[in-house]
Amino acid sequence: MTSSQPQPAPTHVPPATLDRDTIVAFLGSIFDRRGGEEYLGEPVTMGEHMLQGATIAEQNGQPEEIIVGALLHDIGHFTSEFGTYHPDDTEDRHHEDAGAEVLERFFPSVITDCCRYHVAAKRYLCATKPEYFKRLSPASVHTLELQGGPMNPEEVAEFEANPNLKEIIAVRYLDEAGKRAGMETPDFWHFAPMVQRMVDRHCGVPD
Ligand SMILES: [Fe+2]
Repeated sequence: MTSSQPQPAPTHVPPATLDRDTIVAFLGSIFDRRGGEEYLGEPVTMGEHMLQGATIAEQNGQPEEIIVGALLHDIGHFTSEFGTYHPDDTEDRHHEDAGAEVLERFFPSVITDCCRYHVAAKRYLCATKPEYFKRLSPASVHTLELQGGPMNPEEVAEFEANPNLKEIIAVRYLDEAGKRAGMETPDFWHFAPMVQRMVDRHCGVPD
């Protein structure tokens, strides 16, 4: 089977059985089936949140890596074995690692890193940009504490060595931006051909 077009959405499949022909449909089915779930503590659903970040990136003419990174950065909220975030959480659920685990086989490291390090980016920006903290929603401030608070200087230095730092930070700002009640966005399938292109490029399918 060629992978030039996203395939029809499957019913739920275990991530281990995914391949480059089914990953985009799998991701889309998450948006279709579960995107309407509340992003507790925010005025948007989980799906709206990710679609808003991707839409703002697209409207601003940002590169595809940023658009897709924003679109998928929180996918781990749905794939984590520890379940989705709740404002009463007293322990972190590590959704950024769960998401990166699903994405890393299919996407370039820049996309996977935008997911894996979007929490670290919040901790980094809180440590290095005092005005950034004011952008955080109350829910994001709550999770900041669970996630370890602002980085210390050693963590900052280590984080700045990541070759994808610029993209990771760009997606983090879109994370904060994508929490607008009532913003219109296209659905996941608008972005699906772009997502499939990234998969094909990474998995070695010729254009
Ligand atoms: Fe997010």
